[in-house]
Amino acid sequence: MTQNILPHDHGSHRLSVAPMMDWTDRHCRVFHRAMTRRAMLYTEMVTAAAVIHGPRARLLDFHAVEHPVALQLGGSDPAELARATRIAGPWGYDEINLNVGCPSDRVQSGCFGAVLMERPALVADCLAAMIGESPVPVTVKCRIGVDDQIPETVLPDFIEKVAGAGVRHIIIHARKAWLQGLSPKENREIPPLDYPLVLRMKRDFPELTICLNGGVTTLAQAEALLAQGLDGVMIGRAAYHDPAAVLIGADRLWGEDHAPDAVAVVQAMRPHIAAHLADGGRLHQITRHMLGLFHGRPGARGWRRVLSENASRPGAGLDVVDMALERVTVPV
Ligand SMILES: Cc1cc2nc3c(=O)[nH]c(=O)nc-3n(C[C@H](O)[C@H](O)[C@H](O)COP(=O)(O)O)c2cc1C
Repeated sequence: MTQNILPHDHGSHRLSVAPMMDWTDRHCRVFHRAMTRRAMLYTEMVTAAAVIHGPRARLLDFHAVEHPVALQLGGSDPAELARATRIAGPWGYDEINLNVGCPSDRVQSGCFGAVLMERPALVADCLAAMIGESPVPVTVKCRIGVDDQIPETVLPDFIEKVAGAGVRHIIIHARKAWLQGLSPKENREIPPLDYPLVLRMKRDFPELTICLNGGVTTLAQAEALLAQGLDGVMIGRAAYHDPAAVLIGADRLWGEDHAPDAVAVVQAMRPHIAAHLADGGRLHQITRHMLGLFHGRPGARGWRRVLSENASRPGAGLDVVDMALERVTVPV
């Protein structure tokens, strides 16, 4: 494979959609790809143990249209992560990412996710082991610190250690995770955002690709951060809840004018939906990710309601999508 996405390439990640468990599954990613050709899409986190012992095809299969797509792994055992990276190799992901940012209990009990911010040497070992098995860039997604850590001290130390392991690309969720007393949801809202610190990391480590994540809700905001020198912006919740606002037109960040209308996005999804239904899948498994497509537009509630009420019924097909679409396309 010619590697035109070099590890030092600062351009390929100008915008990415964050890994989100239960949300960014392959149907969601195909849907997002119908809006942007360029944004990097991340999978939900898959644990290294699941890749090794679990149903690999179900966990790792993706559709060719999803490229560029990154697989996010969770774990804290270098040998296990190396093995999972090796197993995933033939699937052809464009990047393998290690999760050092997620504070969920499930994740903490396995000693991975954000708690690893306290163990940068172990993270470096994990990443070095993954790099040894990966034909594509290995990246890391982290927080600025956890609990009573001082981000100004621990973040540069963390970055130095992972860069020492060979990582060239870091995505920083610009807030701490408080591991005690906050739910994962609260940990995405309550600890304050510190964008200046992430910007400083880009200045202090200019040779690294540094992407910012956390609290970005519009393309304009992403563009403003890029203009301040960051290499990329990763958007999670806003891309999911209001995908048209964030992803339609996003390709302008790469100088491209691809910006399909939201109705055209639905039409582009039809072959994917038809194939999924023909395979015995349920309509709802795809349309649940599309509920926010018309957010803020006349008929948005009708679109959402028709899909929510009908798409999970046995036998629900493309006619339900057509019915929902009428709510936004036919003037009342
Ligand atoms: C439902 C949900 C699931 C998430 N799952 C993951 C995950 O699997 N791995 C991860 O690194 N972060 C996960 N996150 C965190 C997001 O990737 C992102 O860091 C966070 O939402 C902040 O970005 P935002 O403000 O743009 O949403 C999840 C967030 C949400 C809302």
